[in-house]
This record gives sequence, C-alpha cells and structure tokens, in this order.
Amino acid sequence: MLEMRNISKEFPGVRALSEVSLTIRPGEILGLCGENGAGKSTLMKILSGVIPYPEYDGQILMDGRETRFRAPAEAEARGVAIIHQELNLFPELAVSENLFLGAERTQWGVIDWYESKAAAKALLDRYRVAVDPDAKVKDLSIGKNQLVEIARALSKNARYLILDEPTSALTEEEVENLFRILRDLRAGGMAGVYISHKLDEIKKICDSIAVLRDGRRIGEVSPTAGLNRNDIVKAMVGRDIENLYPRVESSPGEVLLDVRDFSVDHPLLPGEKIVEDVSFRVREGEILGVYGLMGSGRTELLTGIFGGFGPEDYSGEVVIRGQAASIRSPHDAITGGLGLCTEDRKVLGLFLEAAVQFNMSIVALDRFVEGGVVDGVREIGEIRTFIRDLEIKTPSEFQTARALSGGTQQKVLLARWLMRDPAVLFLDEPTRGVDVGAKTEIYRIMNRMKESRKGIVMVTSDLSELLGMSDRVLVMREGRSVGAFERSEATAEKIGALATGNV
Ligand SMILES: Nc1ncnc2c1ncn2[C@@H]1O[C@H](COP(=O)(O)OP(=O)(O)OP(=O)(O)O)[C@@H](O)[C@H]1O
Ligand SMILES: [Mg+2]
Repeated sequence: MLEMRNISKEFPGVRALSEVSLTIRPGEILGLCGENGAGKSTLMKILSGVIPYPEYDGQILMDGRETRFRAPAEAEARGVAIIHQELNLFPELAVSENLFLGAERTQWGVIDWYESKAAAKALLDRYRVAVDPDAKVKDLSIGKNQLVEIARALSKNARYLILDEPTSALTEEEVENLFRILRDLRAGGMAGVYISHKLDEIKKICDSIAVLRDGRRIGEVSPTAGLNRNDIVKAMVGRDIENLYPRVESSPGEVLLDVRDFSVDHPLLPGEKIVEDVSFRVREGEILGVYGLMGSGRTELLTGIFGGFGPEDYSGEVVIRGQAASIRSPHDAITGGLGLCTEDRKVLGLFLEAAVQFNMSIVALDRFVEGGVVDGVREIGEIRTFIRDLEIKTPSEFQTARALSGGTQQKVLLARWLMRDPAVLFLDEPTRGVDVGAKTEIYRIMNRMKESRKGIVMVTSDLSELLGMSDRVLVMREGRSVGAFERSEATAEKIGALATGNV
C-alpha cells in the first residue's frame, strides 16, 4: 500500500497543494480528477520523486513505513513509475534507445545494440505497440510517442504505475489496448493512479476516484460504480455544467477561405502524399469540423495551408476572401488573415521560458501599435481579460509558461490566437487536456468569433465535440477527403464509418 499524508507544496506565489492525503491500494486503479491547475501533476510528481524530498511537506508511506524519494530513480527502484503529461522522450534518438535509456542492455560494459533492439521489439510487441524500434522518436506522431512512453514505464516492472493524462493523443483503438494492458496488470496486483479530463475513461478504468480542487482534497474517495458524470463534474468545478456544447446558430455569409485540391508531399516517403487533393470552404460565421483518425492528414492539411512546409512540398490553391493567396511561410498566412493553434503546445507552440504575457501577445502585437510604439496598457488590458475569461490559472501575466499546468498552457496558446483575431482560425485539438469548465468557455469564445463573422476550422478527435460544435463536417481518411456533411445530416455512426473505412 502506498500512502500520502498531509502533502503540501508551495511554488513562488502559488500554493499548489494543501494537506492532501491519498491512499493507493494494490489491485486498484484510482482516478485523480480536478480542474486545470488543481494540483494533480504536482501531487504525482512528489509521489514519483520528480519533486524530491524535502521540497514538499508531509509524508509518503510505503507498506506502512515512511519513504523519502530524493530522485525519480529512487522511486523507480521501489516500483513507482510515472508517465508524464508532457512527453519526455528524446526526439533525436531511436525508439529502442529511448526505451532503455538509463537501463541499457550491456555486454562487458558496452551497450549491446543487437540485444537492445531485440528487447525493444519484444516489449513493443508484448504491448501491441505498432512502432518500429529503429524509428526516431521525432518522426512519430504524438500518439505513438505516448505509447512508447507507456511501454517504457511498463518495462520497469512497476508495482505502482502513475499515468498523467496518458490518452490525450491516442486513437480509440489504442486507448482500448492500453485499458486491456492496465486491466491485466491490475489483475496481477499492480496499483495505478490515473489522471484524465476524460470522465468516461475514468469511469471505465478506475475503481475509485479522488477529486482535487485548488490544491485540496474534496470529499471522500468514492467508488466509480454508480457515480455519474455530473457527480464528478460537480465535485471538480463546484457547480453544475448544464450545457457542455453551447453552440449558437448563425447564418453563414461570404466565403472566407476556399481551398482547392490541396496536397502535401509525404515527409519520409518520396512520391507519396500525406494530404491528397483536399478541397473545402469556410464561410463567415461558420465552424467547419474536420474529423479523421490519427494520421489521416488533418494536422498536415492545416499546417500545409498555413505555410508550415517548404513551398515545394505542397500544391493546390488557397483563396482568401476571393483573392488567390500565395502562402510560402506562416508569416504570409498570418498577414493573409489566418491563424493556427497547434495541437502540440510543447514543440510548436509555447515559448516555455518566456512569460505568459509574451506568449499571448506575440502574434497580435501589431494590433497594439500606435505611432510606431506598442500601447502596453491596451495590450496588458486585453491579456488580463483573456486570463480572466479563460480562467487561466497563473499568479500573474509575468509567470513563465513552463510553470503553468498542462491544460493552462493550452489555454495560453489559444488566447494567443484569439488575441490576434484572424479572419479564419485553425484550431487543432483545441480542448485537449483542458478541464470541463474551461472547455465550455472555449466553445463560448468560438461562438463569439462566429458572431463577429469569423470562420473556424476545428480539427478534433472528440466525436461529441465535433457533433456538438460544428456547422459542417469534413471527414478525412489516409490523406483524402472522404465525406462532407451538413450539421443536420451528421451522425456519429456515419462519420465513424467513413473515417475508419468500414462503410
Ligand atoms: N514549477 C512550477 N513553478 C511554479 N508553479 C508551478 C510549477 N509547477 C506547477 N505550478 C503551479 O501549481 C499549480 C498546480 O499545477 P499542476 O500542474 O499540479 O496542475 P494539474 O492539476 O496537473 O493541472 P492540468 O489538468 O492542467 O494538468 C498550478 O497553479 C501551477 O501553475
Ligand atoms: Mg497536470
């Protein structure tokens, strides 16, 4: 049994945890819920030695005896492994190298590459992770990255496995696979802590649930059986959320963006295309939802239109407000009236060492320029409005982005593009890792954009979000557009069938 007693943790200006106690039992998976910034990751970092003793107050007990982890390796040696919310693999290294980093297979003191590769292959096969051990991590999708990280943690024979939002980038099938593994491990006596904003998953895989709010434990640990979604939401947020998808009607106007026969070359396979002949239109006051499985080319489509690849890597026509646009770089895209909020905040999005303020106004600064200088008062005023509206949890606008919780970082990235206020905003998985309350807030802001006659293209893997918010839906499979629906005709069954090709 693993116990945390009266754990408190303070960061400069932030009380992240106040006297939190938690018990983790063998053969059980405990769900840990709470809004963005509630303290979930911090609590688990303490349990896994990432925040080492004595940088916190309180006690950790293992099988009744007090334990102090001064480093993650000490926790691992005692069977506590964590899969972090943010990916921690080395992009330039191969999958096999990442898997055994720090635990290399050696022969006479040298790394045995042959043995490493074989062991990596065996490990990936055992957990049905379809990844080439020789592939470099930087060439894998986020979903595959996550799976490799999970396999790495499992390779350490953990008795206690902590998963901090492990499924944010997994396909439904990959999630099912992960759950199957977790059930097996649980049956074998392993204990787990499972953090997720996806409450359906919590209900599915967790035996019981604990809720954090503002760094404190709320209520008792309750068994998930018999608990409904609203109970969990209410405990987390402290109020009911009546309408998760507060979509507004608006009549679509002029065509803002017209994309014709857009193709993007495959980055690795010469002669192949990762996006092929995709056409779509976005009108004023309209949300176009783009659905497809991981790897169907959705992200590449948006990135391509936005000028994120070299000019020789794509073909097709992009027309903005009736004018043919030649977009050769993201800069061209931004000045042409487009915005792109990426799915991967760590790699492509945030300047982690810079302040919230900088991260938010970086692409919107020219809106605040008057007579050649930035009107700092107006800039800060708007930043503070977004911090309030999106409930961005930060002690001030001067905090560095790195110090924010995962979901809070996502909100900052979104605020950046909302401040820019482009004619057409591309949103790639806008609510990934964001708590229920803030999700609704993000949808409200999308509504406001609709009402001010802007257009939105929203890529999402969440079918209920897609159906809840889109005015029209485009379905992609293997780089191609395989179907388009008006809102009134769109159903989960039809869209799912097209996306998987099981028609
Ligand atoms: N290194 C740090 N320096 C300063 N503040 C921090 C640091 N790490 C976390 N915090 C703050 O501690 C609080 C709790 O953050 P934590 O990451 O534990 O939240 P969380 O519950 O995991 O949220 P999310 O669902 O968004 O991941 C937040 O206010 C966060 O900004
Ligand atoms: Mg977190």
